[in-house]
Amino acid sequence: MIVIYPGSFDPVTKGHMDIIERVSKKFEKVIVAVLVNSEKKTLFTLEEREKILENEIKSYGLSNVEVERFDGLLVDFAREHNSNIVVRGLRAISDYEYELQIAHINSDLYNELETIFLVAKAEYSYISSSVVKEIASYNGDISSFVSKNVEKEIKKKQD
Ligand code: PNS
Repeated sequence: MIVIYPGSFDPVTKGHMDIIERVSKKFEKVIVAVLVNSEKKTLFTLEEREKILENEIKSYGLSNVEVERFDGLLVDFAREHNSNIVVRGLRAISDYEYELQIAHINSDLYNELETIFLVAKAEYSYISSSVVKEIASYNGDISSFVSKNVEKEIKKKQD
C-alpha cells in the first residue's frame, strides 16, 4: 500500500519527520509530496525543500520513503501514483477545521481516497514551519524543532 504525505515543507520540521517515520513503519511505501505551486511565498525553493527532505529521510534511515514534487490537485497526484491514502498530521483542534475541509474536498473529487490523521507527538504539537522561521528570524533557538542540518540551511538563508 502506498501512502501520500503532502505538504509545503518550508522547511521540514522534527514534527513532519516524526509523522513520516511513524507512517513508514505501517505502510509499504510513503511518498512525501512537496507542493510546487504554493500561493504562500516560501523561504526555500522547491529544489531546496526536496533536497532538505531527502537528507532528513536518509539520516532517519527510511528506505521506503520517496520525495516527489506535485503541482495541481493532490487527488490527481494520488491517482497517478496508484495511491488512495493521504496522511496528515493533526497537532491541535485548530488544525482540525482546515484539515476536515481538505479531506472532504479530496474525498468528493476522488471517492476512494481516504485521509488518515496521525496525532502529532505532544512535543511537536505546537510547532510549525512558520513558527520555526519566525523564531530563526530573531536568532532564537530552533534546535528542538528542526534537525542540525535544517538549522544550518536556515542560517545560510540569513547570511
Ligand atoms: O503543509 P501544508 O501547506 O499545510 O500543505 C497543504 C497541502 C499541500 C496538503 C494542500 O494545500 C494541498 O493539497 N494542495 C494541493 C491543491 C489541492 O489539491 N487542493 C484541493 C484541496 S483544498
